[in-house]
Amino acid sequence: MDELKEVTIQTYKGWDEFYNIEKSDKLDFFMRNGRMLDVLFSQQFDRAFLDDMCLLATRIRRMALTKMGAQKLSGLLSHKRAMLYFVQPSTRTFISFLNACHILGMKISEIRGTTTSSEVKGESQEDTIRTFASYVDLIIIRHPEEGFAEKTSWILNQNKTPVAVINGGSGPDQHPTQALLDIYTLERSFRNIGGLDNKKIAMVGDLKRGRTVRSLSYLMRNYKDIKLYFVSPEIFRMRDDIKSFLNKHNIEFHETDDFAGVMPEVDAIYMTRIQKEYSEAPAEESDIYPQFHFTKEHLSVIQSHCIIMHPLPRRYEIEVEVDKDPRAVYWKQERNGMWMRAALISYLFGVDDQISAEFR
Ligand code: NCD
Repeated sequence: MDELKEVTIQTYKGWDEFYNIEKSDKLDFFMRNGRMLDVLFSQQFDRAFLDDMCLLATRIRRMALTKMGAQKLSGLLSHKRAMLYFVQPSTRTFISFLNACHILGMKISEIRGTTTSSEVKGESQEDTIRTFASYVDLIIIRHPEEGFAEKTSWILNQNKTPVAVINGGSGPDQHPTQALLDIYTLERSFRNIGGLDNKKIAMVGDLKRGRTVRSLSYLMRNYKDIKLYFVSPEIFRMRDDIKSFLNKHNIEFHETDDFAGVMPEVDAIYMTRIQKEYSEAPAEESDIYPQFHFTKEHLSVIQSHCIIMHPLPRRYEIEVEVDKDPRAVYWKQERNGMWMRAALISYLFGVDDQISAEFR
Protein backbone atom coordinates (compact mmCIF):
# COMPACT_ATOMS: atom_id res chain seq x y z
CA MET A 1 0.00 0.00 0.00
CA ASP A 2 1.44 3.40 -0.81
CA GLU A 3 2.05 6.13 1.72
CA LEU A 4 -0.64 8.49 0.56
CA LYS A 5 -3.33 5.94 1.28
CA GLU A 6 -2.04 5.16 4.76
CA VAL A 7 -1.98 8.83 5.70
CA THR A 8 -5.50 9.30 4.40
CA ILE A 9 -6.85 6.39 6.41
CA GLN A 10 -5.53 7.76 9.67
CA THR A 11 -7.16 11.11 9.06
CA TYR A 12 -10.67 9.66 9.23
CA LYS A 13 -12.10 8.18 12.41
CA GLY A 14 -14.63 5.73 11.13
CA TRP A 15 -16.72 4.47 8.26
CA ASP A 16 -19.69 6.82 8.80
CA GLU A 17 -17.43 9.86 8.83
CA PHE A 18 -15.59 8.64 5.76
CA TYR A 19 -18.79 7.83 3.86
CA ASN A 20 -20.14 11.33 4.38
CA ILE A 21 -17.15 13.05 2.81
CA GLU A 22 -17.82 14.52 -0.65
CA LYS A 23 -16.86 11.96 -3.31
CA SER A 24 -14.64 14.45 -5.11
CA ASP A 25 -12.66 15.02 -1.89
CA LYS A 26 -11.69 11.39 -1.38
CA LEU A 27 -10.68 10.18 -4.82
CA ASP A 28 -7.05 9.66 -3.71
CA PHE A 29 -8.17 7.15 -1.14
CA PHE A 30 -9.07 4.70 -3.92
CA MET A 31 -5.77 5.14 -5.77
CA ARG A 32 -2.53 3.27 -5.41
CA ASN A 33 0.71 4.36 -7.03
CA GLY A 34 -1.12 6.83 -9.29
CA ARG A 35 -3.59 4.24 -10.52
CA MET A 36 -7.15 3.50 -9.46
CA LEU A 37 -7.30 0.43 -7.24
CA ASP A 38 -11.03 0.47 -6.53
CA VAL A 39 -13.83 1.48 -8.91
CA LEU A 40 -16.80 2.57 -6.82
CA PHE A 41 -18.58 5.57 -8.31
CA SER A 42 -18.39 7.42 -11.60
CA GLN A 43 -17.09 10.68 -10.15
CA GLN A 44 -13.74 8.83 -10.21
CA PHE A 45 -13.50 8.97 -14.01
CA ASP A 46 -12.06 11.89 -15.95
CA ARG A 47 -12.01 12.43 -19.72
CA ALA A 48 -8.51 11.05 -20.25
CA PHE A 49 -9.44 7.89 -18.38
CA LEU A 50 -12.69 7.47 -20.32
CA ASP A 51 -10.92 7.94 -23.66
CA ASP A 52 -8.22 5.46 -22.63
CA MET A 53 -10.79 2.86 -21.58
CA CYS A 54 -12.73 3.19 -24.86
CA LEU A 55 -9.56 2.70 -26.88
CA LEU A 56 -8.48 -0.23 -24.73
CA ALA A 57 -11.90 -1.91 -25.02
CA THR A 58 -11.69 -1.70 -28.81
CA ARG A 59 -8.17 -3.13 -28.78
CA ILE A 60 -9.19 -6.06 -26.61
CA ARG A 61 -12.19 -6.67 -28.89
CA ARG A 62 -9.85 -6.76 -31.89
CA MET A 63 -7.25 -8.98 -30.25
CA ALA A 64 -9.90 -11.46 -29.14
CA LEU A 65 -10.87 -12.05 -32.79
CA THR A 66 -7.87 -14.27 -33.46
CA LYS A 67 -6.69 -17.34 -31.58
CA MET A 68 -3.25 -15.83 -31.15
CA GLY A 69 -4.65 -12.58 -29.82
CA ALA A 70 -7.04 -14.38 -27.50
CA GLN A 71 -4.20 -16.50 -26.16
CA LYS A 72 -2.09 -13.43 -25.46
CA LEU A 73 -4.98 -11.83 -23.59
CA SER A 74 -5.62 -14.92 -21.53
CA GLY A 75 -2.03 -15.01 -20.36
CA LEU A 76 -2.14 -11.47 -18.99
CA LEU A 77 -3.81 -12.19 -15.65
CA SER A 78 -3.59 -15.95 -15.40
CA HIS A 79 -1.86 -15.50 -12.03
CA LYS A 80 -4.79 -13.51 -10.56
CA ARG A 81 -8.09 -14.55 -8.98
CA ALA A 82 -11.41 -12.69 -8.79
CA MET A 83 -14.47 -13.09 -6.62
CA LEU A 84 -17.94 -12.21 -7.87
CA TYR A 85 -20.10 -11.37 -4.87
CA PHE A 86 -23.54 -10.71 -6.34
CA VAL A 87 -26.28 -10.60 -3.73
CA GLN A 88 -28.81 -8.78 -5.95
CA PRO A 89 -30.24 -10.31 -9.13
CA SER A 90 -28.07 -9.90 -12.22
CA THR A 91 -27.77 -11.46 -15.66
CA ARG A 92 -25.65 -9.18 -17.89
CA THR A 93 -23.39 -7.58 -15.33
CA PHE A 94 -22.55 -10.95 -13.81
CA ILE A 95 -21.99 -12.81 -17.06
CA SER A 96 -20.08 -9.98 -18.71
CA PHE A 97 -17.74 -9.60 -15.71
CA LEU A 98 -17.27 -13.36 -15.61
CA ASN A 99 -16.36 -13.44 -19.30
CA ALA A 100 -14.20 -10.32 -19.01
CA CYS A 101 -12.21 -12.17 -16.33
CA HIS A 102 -12.03 -15.25 -18.58
CA ILE A 103 -10.74 -13.17 -21.50
CA LEU A 104 -7.83 -12.07 -19.29
CA GLY A 105 -7.26 -15.58 -17.95
CA MET A 106 -8.35 -14.92 -14.35
CA LYS A 107 -9.69 -17.66 -12.08
CA ILE A 108 -13.13 -16.96 -10.65
CA SER A 109 -15.12 -17.79 -7.55
CA GLU A 110 -18.68 -16.61 -6.96
CA ILE A 111 -21.38 -16.10 -4.37
CA ARG A 112 -24.80 -15.21 -5.69
CA GLY A 113 -26.88 -14.62 -2.57
CA THR A 114 -26.37 -14.27 1.16
CA THR A 115 -28.37 -17.46 1.76
CA THR A 116 -25.49 -19.54 0.49
CA SER A 117 -22.74 -17.78 2.45
CA SER A 118 -21.98 -17.81 6.17
CA GLU A 119 -23.83 -14.52 6.56
CA VAL A 120 -26.81 -16.78 7.14
CA LYS A 121 -25.04 -18.05 10.27
CA GLY A 122 -24.69 -14.48 11.46
CA GLU A 123 -21.20 -13.63 10.21
CA SER A 124 -20.67 -9.87 10.03
CA GLN A 125 -20.18 -8.02 6.75
CA GLU A 126 -16.67 -7.10 7.89
CA ASP A 127 -15.67 -10.71 8.49
CA THR A 128 -17.29 -11.87 5.25
CA ILE A 129 -15.28 -9.30 3.29
CA ARG A 130 -12.04 -10.16 5.07
CA THR A 131 -12.64 -13.78 4.19
CA PHE A 132 -13.06 -13.06 0.47
CA ALA A 133 -9.92 -10.96 0.58
CA SER A 134 -7.97 -13.92 1.97
CA TYR A 135 -8.37 -15.76 -1.30
CA VAL A 136 -8.59 -13.32 -4.20
CA ASP A 137 -7.01 -10.24 -5.82
CA LEU A 138 -10.24 -8.59 -6.95
CA ILE A 139 -13.76 -8.49 -5.48
CA ILE A 140 -16.62 -7.46 -7.76
CA ILE A 141 -19.74 -6.59 -5.80
CA ARG A 142 -23.42 -6.14 -6.52
CA HIS A 143 -25.30 -5.28 -3.36
CA PRO A 144 -28.67 -3.70 -2.43
CA GLU A 145 -27.00 -1.38 0.12
CA GLU A 146 -25.96 1.98 -1.35
CA GLY A 147 -22.46 2.33 0.05
CA PHE A 148 -21.55 -1.33 0.39
CA ALA A 149 -18.86 -1.52 -2.28
CA GLU A 150 -17.25 1.61 -0.87
CA LYS A 151 -17.49 0.13 2.63
CA THR A 152 -15.71 -2.97 1.35
CA SER A 153 -12.90 -0.80 0.07
CA TRP A 154 -12.79 0.95 3.44
CA ILE A 155 -12.67 -2.34 5.39
CA LEU A 156 -9.90 -3.73 3.19
CA ASN A 157 -7.89 -0.56 3.60
CA GLN A 158 -8.32 -0.62 7.37
CA ASN A 159 -6.81 -4.08 7.27
CA LYS A 160 -4.12 -2.98 4.80
CA THR A 161 -5.29 -5.53 2.26
CA PRO A 162 -4.41 -4.48 -1.29
CA VAL A 163 -7.33 -6.24 -2.94
CA ALA A 164 -9.13 -4.32 -5.70
CA VAL A 165 -12.88 -3.68 -5.45
CA ILE A 166 -15.31 -2.97 -8.30
CA ASN A 167 -18.87 -1.80 -7.73
CA GLY A 168 -21.18 -3.84 -9.98
CA GLY A 169 -24.29 -1.97 -8.81
CA SER A 170 -24.93 -0.44 -5.37
CA GLY A 171 -28.67 -0.39 -4.66
CA PRO A 172 -30.47 2.53 -6.33
CA ASP A 173 -27.33 4.65 -6.14
CA GLN A 174 -24.61 3.87 -8.71
CA HIS A 175 -23.48 1.46 -11.40
CA PRO A 176 -20.15 2.91 -12.57
CA THR A 177 -19.13 0.11 -14.94
CA GLN A 178 -22.49 0.33 -16.70
CA ALA A 179 -21.76 4.05 -17.17
CA LEU A 180 -18.41 3.12 -18.74
CA LEU A 181 -19.99 0.78 -21.24
CA ASP A 182 -22.70 3.35 -21.94
CA ILE A 183 -20.03 5.95 -22.73
CA TYR A 184 -18.29 3.42 -24.98
CA THR A 185 -21.56 2.74 -26.78
CA LEU A 186 -22.29 6.46 -27.23
CA GLU A 187 -18.77 7.24 -28.45
CA ARG A 188 -18.77 4.30 -30.88
CA SER A 189 -22.21 5.09 -32.21
CA PHE A 190 -21.27 8.73 -32.80
CA ARG A 191 -17.73 8.10 -34.08
CA ASN A 192 -18.58 9.54 -37.51
CA ILE A 193 -20.35 12.60 -36.14
CA GLY A 194 -17.79 13.92 -33.66
CA GLY A 195 -18.30 11.56 -30.72
CA LEU A 196 -20.34 12.36 -27.64
CA ASP A 197 -19.40 16.06 -27.38
CA ASN A 198 -22.22 18.49 -28.29
CA LYS A 199 -24.94 15.86 -28.12
CA LYS A 200 -28.44 15.89 -26.68
CA ILE A 201 -29.42 12.89 -24.60
CA ALA A 202 -32.84 11.96 -23.23
CA MET A 203 -32.98 9.70 -20.18
CA VAL A 204 -36.38 8.18 -19.78
CA GLY A 205 -38.26 6.28 -17.06
CA ASP A 206 -37.31 5.73 -13.44
CA LEU A 207 -34.62 8.34 -12.98
CA LYS A 208 -35.07 8.44 -9.24
CA ARG A 209 -33.97 4.87 -8.56
CA GLY A 210 -32.25 4.01 -11.82
CA ARG A 211 -28.59 3.69 -10.87
CA THR A 212 -27.53 3.48 -14.51
CA VAL A 213 -28.82 6.92 -15.44
CA ARG A 214 -27.47 8.36 -12.21
CA SER A 215 -23.94 7.09 -12.87
CA LEU A 216 -24.10 8.14 -16.51
CA SER A 217 -25.23 11.66 -15.60
CA TYR A 218 -22.13 12.20 -13.46
CA LEU A 219 -19.95 11.42 -16.48
CA MET A 220 -21.45 14.19 -18.58
CA ARG A 221 -19.12 16.74 -16.98
CA ASN A 222 -16.36 15.15 -19.09
CA TYR A 223 -17.96 16.08 -22.42
CA LYS A 224 -18.48 19.43 -24.13
CA ASP A 225 -21.88 21.10 -24.45
CA ILE A 226 -24.07 18.18 -23.47
CA LYS A 227 -27.78 18.78 -23.08
CA LEU A 228 -29.74 16.32 -20.96
CA TYR A 229 -33.49 15.77 -21.02
CA PHE A 230 -34.83 13.97 -17.96
CA VAL A 231 -38.13 12.47 -19.08
CA SER A 232 -40.12 10.76 -16.34
CA PRO A 233 -43.37 10.60 -14.41
CA GLU A 234 -43.44 13.19 -11.62
CA ILE A 235 -42.76 10.58 -8.93
CA PHE A 236 -39.65 9.25 -10.63
CA ARG A 237 -37.81 12.52 -11.23
CA MET A 238 -34.03 12.64 -11.00
CA ARG A 239 -32.90 13.17 -7.39
CA ASP A 240 -31.49 16.48 -6.18
CA ASP A 241 -27.92 15.22 -5.68
CA ILE A 242 -27.52 14.68 -9.42
CA LYS A 243 -29.25 17.94 -10.30
CA SER A 244 -26.98 19.97 -8.03
CA PHE A 245 -23.94 18.19 -9.47
CA LEU A 246 -25.07 19.14 -12.99
CA ASN A 247 -25.71 22.73 -11.93
CA LYS A 248 -22.30 22.93 -10.29
CA HIS A 249 -20.66 21.76 -13.50
CA ASN A 250 -22.82 23.96 -15.77
CA ILE A 251 -24.41 21.04 -17.58
CA GLU A 252 -27.71 21.96 -19.16
CA PHE A 253 -30.64 19.74 -18.23
CA HIS A 254 -34.40 19.90 -18.64
CA GLU A 255 -37.03 17.96 -16.73
CA THR A 256 -40.23 17.03 -18.48
CA ASP A 257 -42.95 14.42 -18.81
CA ASP A 258 -43.42 15.19 -22.53
CA PHE A 259 -41.57 12.26 -24.13
CA ALA A 260 -43.17 12.83 -27.54
CA GLY A 261 -41.94 16.44 -27.56
CA VAL A 262 -38.35 15.48 -26.69
CA MET A 263 -38.00 12.54 -29.13
CA PRO A 264 -37.32 14.46 -32.36
CA GLU A 265 -34.83 16.77 -30.61
CA VAL A 266 -32.25 14.33 -29.28
CA ASP A 267 -29.25 12.31 -30.50
CA ALA A 268 -29.71 9.47 -28.02
CA ILE A 269 -32.62 8.08 -26.05
CA TYR A 270 -31.68 6.10 -22.94
CA MET A 271 -34.66 4.04 -21.81
CA THR A 272 -34.94 2.56 -18.32
CA ARG A 273 -37.17 0.15 -16.45
CA ILE A 274 -39.33 1.17 -13.48
CA GLN A 275 -37.26 -0.22 -10.60
CA LYS A 276 -40.18 -1.86 -8.86
CA GLU A 277 -37.94 -3.76 -6.44
CA TYR A 278 -37.50 -0.46 -4.60
CA SER A 279 -41.21 0.48 -4.64
CA GLU A 280 -42.92 1.38 -1.40
CA ALA A 281 -46.40 2.06 -2.81
CA PRO A 282 -48.19 -0.76 -4.66
CA ALA A 283 -49.59 1.81 -7.15
CA GLU A 284 -46.11 2.45 -8.49
CA GLU A 285 -45.80 -1.24 -9.29
CA SER A 286 -49.07 -1.73 -11.11
CA ASP A 287 -48.76 1.29 -13.38
CA ILE A 288 -46.59 0.62 -16.43
CA TYR A 289 -46.53 4.24 -17.65
CA PRO A 290 -47.19 3.65 -21.38
CA GLN A 291 -46.53 7.32 -22.26
CA PHE A 292 -42.86 6.65 -21.39
CA HIS A 293 -42.52 3.63 -23.69
CA PHE A 294 -40.76 3.59 -27.06
CA THR A 295 -42.85 1.95 -29.81
CA LYS A 296 -42.22 1.19 -33.49
CA GLU A 297 -44.31 4.27 -34.44
CA HIS A 298 -41.70 6.42 -32.75
CA LEU A 299 -39.01 5.25 -35.19
CA SER A 300 -40.32 7.69 -37.79
CA VAL A 301 -40.24 10.57 -35.31
CA ILE A 302 -36.61 10.36 -34.13
CA GLN A 303 -33.60 11.65 -36.10
CA SER A 304 -31.88 9.34 -38.57
CA HIS A 305 -28.75 9.17 -36.38
CA CYS A 306 -30.56 9.01 -33.03
CA ILE A 307 -29.65 5.85 -31.09
CA ILE A 308 -31.90 4.00 -28.68
CA MET A 309 -30.19 2.59 -25.61
CA HIS A 310 -31.34 0.51 -22.63
CA PRO A 311 -29.19 -1.08 -19.89
CA LEU A 312 -31.60 -4.04 -19.98
CA PRO A 313 -33.48 -6.00 -18.73
CA ARG A 314 -36.42 -4.53 -20.61
CA ARG A 315 -40.01 -5.10 -19.68
CA TYR A 316 -42.41 -3.03 -21.78
CA GLU A 317 -40.38 0.15 -22.24
CA ILE A 318 -39.27 -0.74 -25.76
CA GLU A 319 -41.49 -2.65 -28.13
CA VAL A 320 -39.74 -5.77 -29.48
CA GLU A 321 -40.34 -4.65 -33.10
CA VAL A 322 -37.97 -1.75 -32.48
CA ASP A 323 -35.03 -4.20 -32.18
CA LYS A 324 -34.77 -4.58 -35.95
CA ASP A 325 -33.99 -0.90 -36.50
CA PRO A 326 -30.23 -0.19 -36.78
CA ARG A 327 -30.67 2.71 -34.39
CA ALA A 328 -31.63 0.28 -31.61
CA VAL A 329 -28.19 -0.35 -30.09
CA TYR A 330 -29.05 -2.01 -26.77
CA TRP A 331 -27.87 -5.48 -27.82
CA LYS A 332 -24.54 -3.99 -28.92
CA GLN A 333 -24.49 -2.00 -25.69
CA GLU A 334 -24.88 -5.25 -23.74
CA ARG A 335 -21.94 -6.86 -25.57
CA ASN A 336 -19.82 -3.72 -25.17
CA GLY A 337 -20.04 -4.38 -21.43
CA MET A 338 -17.79 -7.40 -21.67
CA TRP A 339 -15.07 -5.56 -23.61
CA MET A 340 -15.23 -2.52 -21.38
CA ARG A 341 -15.05 -4.61 -18.21
CA ALA A 342 -12.06 -6.49 -19.59
CA ALA A 343 -10.45 -3.10 -20.35
CA LEU A 344 -11.12 -1.87 -16.82
CA ILE A 345 -9.72 -4.99 -15.14
CA SER A 346 -6.61 -4.94 -17.33
CA TYR A 347 -6.09 -1.32 -16.30
CA LEU A 348 -6.57 -2.06 -12.58
CA PHE A 349 -3.86 -4.72 -12.71
CA GLY A 350 -1.55 -2.60 -14.88
CA VAL A 351 -1.41 -4.93 -17.89
CA ASP A 352 -3.07 -2.42 -20.24
CA ASP A 353 0.37 -1.41 -21.57
CA GLN A 354 0.92 -4.94 -22.81
CA ILE A 355 -2.31 -4.72 -24.79
CA SER A 356 -1.44 -1.31 -26.27
CA ALA A 357 2.02 -2.64 -27.22
CA GLU A 358 0.33 -5.02 -29.65
CA PHE A 359 -0.86 -2.01 -31.67
CA ARG A 360 2.45 -0.16 -32.04
C1 NCD B 1 -29.46 -2.45 -14.67
C2 NCD B 1 -29.20 -2.57 -13.19
O1 NCD B 1 -29.05 -3.66 -12.64
O2 NCD B 1 -29.11 -1.52 -12.58
N1 NCD B 1 -29.15 -3.61 -15.37
C3 NCD B 1 -27.84 -3.85 -15.71
O3 NCD B 1 -26.94 -3.88 -14.89
N2 NCD B 1 -27.58 -4.02 -17.01
C4 NCD B 1 -30.78 -1.89 -14.98
C5 NCD B 1 -32.03 -2.51 -14.41
O4 NCD B 1 -32.00 -3.48 -13.67
O5 NCD B 1 -33.09 -1.99 -14.75
